[in-house]
This record gives sequence, structure tokens and C-alpha cells, in this order.
Amino acid sequence: MAKQKSWTADQLDPSRMPRHVAIIMDGNGRWAQKKLLPRTMGHRAGMAALKKVVKACDELHIPYLSVFAFSTENWKRPITEVDYLMNLLVEFLHKELQELHDHNVRINIIGDYTVIPRQCQVEIDQALEMTRHNSGLVFTIALNYGSRKEIIDTVKCVVEKIQAGQLEPEQIDEASFSAMLYTHNIPDPDLLIRTAGEMRISNFMLWQIAYSEIAVTPTLWPDFTREDLIKSLLDYQNRERRFGGLSK
Ligand code: FPP
Repeated sequence: MAKQKSWTADQLDPSRMPRHVAIIMDGNGRWAQKKLLPRTMGHRAGMAALKKVVKACDELHIPYLSVFAFSTENWKRPITEVDYLMNLLVEFLHKELQELHDHNVRINIIGDYTVIPRQCQVEIDQALEMTRHNSGLVFTIALNYGSRKEIIDTVKCVVEKIQAGQLEPEQIDEASFSAMLYTHNIPDPDLLIRTAGEMRISNFMLWQIAYSEIAVTPTLWPDFTREDLIKSLLDYQNRERRFGGLSK
């Protein structure tokens, strides 16, 4: 059998790294099902994969990493699964916060987390407060996030500003609109990775991914490793980004 090709960081061109990698972490449930385990175990294994990917992004000097942890649509899941996911986030922050802080990681949240369980909010506020002055990797967790809701909230913000006389309709352009999105403090993703093979965006950063390169891998999220990340980065570096223009 042919030896599988391996992907290592030294194959990457440091001058062509993406500034922002965003990930739709999909396939936790399928991973568990394949192993005849409850879905929750898939999420737990997903948390372990996430830990490694955050570490890898930090080591590879990627300035921004964003992950889709819980969508506005995920409330439709059984309450036991929703609770498990919330508790997992608390556990993740509890266990990892100090190490993330030691590595100069700044935690950022997008989405309305004021409606999630109190203990979770407390943990998030602590993480935001502790890491707010850090200057390393900006690690954004999308929590109770939906891109359509984000766009509607931004439109409401625009209307309020106009009504208050703080904004003229002529001043609305892509830059001023972007500056009012939840993601106002992070650049648009250069690379969007989706695991588990689904060819969908699932209401994630619809505005922000207008020119992102998309990499879909069949690997289920709990199996996604540093090497898979490097492979996606190598694929990204082999693409030509034209932003609607022509080849140089
Ligand atoms: C999608 O898999 C994954 C999620 C809805 C949750 C992502 C959560 C984690 C990776 C856990 C750790 C996260 C944090 C922030 C601690 P799915 O359940 O939809 O999988 P399926 O499509 O195979 O059923």
C-alpha cells in the first residue's frame, strides 16, 4: 500500500499564511455513532480536538482563529445535549483558561450569550476579562451565533443611529456596516474550514466569508488534527485569490 503523504509545518510558506482561520466543527455526532457511543461523547472528543487546534494555530502564528461552537439553531436539539454542550464550554474555560492566558491568547465571543445558563456567562465574562489585554492569538468562540440575526441586529443599529442623527444614509458603506457587526474587532476569515464533508455554510459569518477560501474535509471534527490543519493551510497557499479581479 502506498505510504500516506504527511503534512508538516516546514512545508508552509510563512509569508502566505492566512490571517484568520474560521472553522465549522461538524461531525461530533457521527463520530460518536460510528463508535457506538452517545452523541455527548462526540462533543467531548470535539473539545479535545479543539484544544489541539487552538495550540497549533498559536504555534503557527495564525493571528485569528474563530470556531462555531453553538448556533442559534442548535437550541432545537434535545435539552440534555444542549446542557451538555454548555457544561462542556464551562469545563473547557475552567481547565484551559490559565494555559490560554499564559500563551497570550485573547478570548472573544460572538453571539448573544446573555441567554445561556448563568454559570456559563460567569465563566465567559471571567475569560474575557482575564485575557482582554493579551496580544497573541485572538480566539473567537461563536456561541448562540447566527449570521442572519447578526445582520438584522446590525441593520437595527444602523436605523437607530440614523434616527439619533449620528449617521447619514450616505455614510453607510461596506466598511461602516462591517464596523457594526459582532465581528467588528476581527478581520474577515481568509480560510473557512468545514469538517465532516457537508457542503453548507449553516448561517456562519455570511457577510464575512464573501471572499474566504473554503476547505471542506471529510474528516469528522473529533478526528481533526494539527496535520489536517496544516493540510488545509497548504491547500490554501496553493490557491490564487483574485477577489473578483484577474490573474496577475
Ligand atoms: C457539530 O457536530 C458540533 C457542534 C454543534 C458543537 C461543537 C462543539 C464542540 C466541538 C465541543 C467543544 C466546544 C467548546 C467551545 C468547548 P454535530 O453534533 O452536528 O455532529 P453530527 O452532524 O455528526 O451530528
